[in-house]
Amino acid sequence: MSTRCFTMLKPGILNRRLVGEVISRLEKKGLKLIGLKLMNISTELAQEHYAEHKGKPFYDPLVDYITSGPVVAMVWQGDDCVTLVRKLAGSTKPSDAQPGTIRGDFCVHTSNNVIHASDSDESAVREINLFFKPEELIDWEDQAAIWY
Ligand code: PPS
Repeated sequence: MSTRCFTMLKPGILNRRLVGEVISRLEKKGLKLIGLKLMNISTELAQEHYAEHKGKPFYDPLVDYITSGPVVAMVWQGDDCVTLVRKLAGSTKPSDAQPGTIRGDFCVHTSNNVIHASDSDESAVREINLFFKPEELIDWEDQAAIWY
């Protein structure tokens, strides 16, 4: 079933000029990009996005990191999209992430784990609504879908 996944490239990815590399991996998999923007996140938006982690030791550093520079916010669509994006992203902890995954290839520390991906279809809906207006999403006709 076609679903959507909110995906965010964190500030380190921009600073390290890896935006194209990471987007390319998601594109080549066959997922469809339907929303994309470069943005600075306010502290309020970062806190709301990570609200379920409030009180955990990594919460404040995570909010600080995500607001330290621009991020690339995206919405990807495809069959089992959340599962596929999270497989490509790799485990949260870089030392658990397999080589070949984004976190497995591009980071060492969990606090710099380069990409966020929604962890369920329900989270994806919540996060997409936080970051995108409905008119910012373009569900274009994908004539190549049969090849993936
Ligand atoms: S996940 O991906 O939601 O299943 O992982 P979870 O363990 O629940 O982590 C939620 C987010 O918190 C980040 N995190 C940390 N940041 C800094 N330091 C430490 N130790 C740490 N542990 C978890 C983790 O990267 C998740 O954020 P995102 O943006 O999804 O990567």
